[in-house]
Amino acid sequence: MTTRRIGIIMNGVTGRMGTNQHLIRSIIAIRQQGGIKIGNDLTIMPDPILTGRNADKLAALAAKTGISRFTTDLDAALANPEDEIFFDASGTLQRAEFIERAVKAGKAIYCEKPTAVETSEALRLAKLCEDAGVKNGVVQDKLWLTGIRKFKLLRDQGFFGRILSVRGEFGYWVFTGEDGDQPIQRPSWNYRKEDGGGIIIDMLCHWRYVIDSLFGPIKSLTCTGATHIPQRIDESGATYPCTTDDSCYATFELENGVICQFNSSWTVRVRRDDLLTMQVDGTHGSAIVGLRKCWVQSLGTTPRPVWNPDIDQPIDFFAGWQEVPDTTTYENAFKIQWEEFLKHVALDTPFPYSLREGAKGVQLAELGLQSWAERRWLDVTPLE
Ligand SMILES: NC(=O)c1ccc[n+]([C@@H]2O[C@H](COP(=O)([O-])OP(=O)(O)OC[C@H]3O[C@@H](n4cnc5c(N)ncnc54)[C@H](O)[C@@H]3O)[C@@H](O)[C@H]2O)c1
Repeated sequence: MTTRRIGIIMNGVTGRMGTNQHLIRSIIAIRQQGGIKIGNDLTIMPDPILTGRNADKLAALAAKTGISRFTTDLDAALANPEDEIFFDASGTLQRAEFIERAVKAGKAIYCEKPTAVETSEALRLAKLCEDAGVKNGVVQDKLWLTGIRKFKLLRDQGFFGRILSVRGEFGYWVFTGEDGDQPIQRPSWNYRKEDGGGIIIDMLCHWRYVIDSLFGPIKSLTCTGATHIPQRIDESGATYPCTTDDSCYATFELENGVICQFNSSWTVRVRRDDLLTMQVDGTHGSAIVGLRKCWVQSLGTTPRPVWNPDIDQPIDFFAGWQEVPDTTTYENAFKIQWEEFLKHVALDTPFPYSLREGAKGVQLAELGLQSWAERRWLDVTPLE
């Protein structure tokens, strides 16, 4: 058995996503399971070095997670040929500069979404990687959500017949910070355009690859945004104006005729099965897809309701759905994609989730913002 070590520069990992999803639940989890076993002969073992601006924060995270290597000197880290991957989970607006430096150093690039807030910039970064011949990838974690995997299994088995429409509902109440005992639970930059915030740029990136891969290519969209809450309190306790959208109401028409409506909001309270649910209706069956669970109802078990507001509803509509059972082990979605990327780097296995694919998400978000501004439907054209 040989072990192939892969050094990874993990940048901006003291943040929410970097620490929890990428470092702890992905890279450390892979190390703790003994690496990625490839047949009987090979193990791929990731070896991270944490980079960032704040030495104290890095030292604390390194101590907490048992990672020995960290530095604030990114140039020195990039100069080390033993570390072949550069990963970035810093702020969206910081991403381009970091990617440029890492590409120059010849590193394989993996990063959080969105890669940029403008399509031209996202494409420029994709091209930069392609021209330099470095492997590259963008996080598309929702593809490996357990609920979505269960849905895909039934879709591929033909359960739904012809899929007609999809209703996605994403979001929850994000506290403003104005009430002392209800502190904010998302970073304040999310509500400032000048810092790369906004729910349209955040979520339409996800809905692009979710819709494309589950339901078909998107033909056109219409989108309305809103900034329902005009001011919030930041991490330091100061009031700031919200300069970008906190809610998004989008409709997508697919090339195959399927209609997808997605609401995304940080200003709604949850009375549904999960923080993200998608109701998929087809001629032969329907699904409610959550993060981990998926419930289905077939044509044969569809109830026959009668409209009568004069009596309490006699049908328990929730009882008519069946939960799709677990049929395998479902790992963390970020970890699964990390394993795919590490195999891509070590063994040249396919990895379709490139920066160019990620640019399609930025394109959808940019079109969403344009549709809102111009109050009209827009076509989604192929990226050059
Ligand atoms: N895949 C997903 O579902 C998902 C979810 C949330 C956020 N994200 C993306 O992940 C990224 C980070 O979001 P977050 O919620 O973790 O934000 P965060 O504010 O918690 O973390 C950002 C991190 O970047 C660091 N940073 C900022 N500027 C830097 C610089 N110049 N140099 C080095 N480090 C710098 C910050 O110190 C912080 O550690 C964003 O691009 C966001 O769009 C993805």
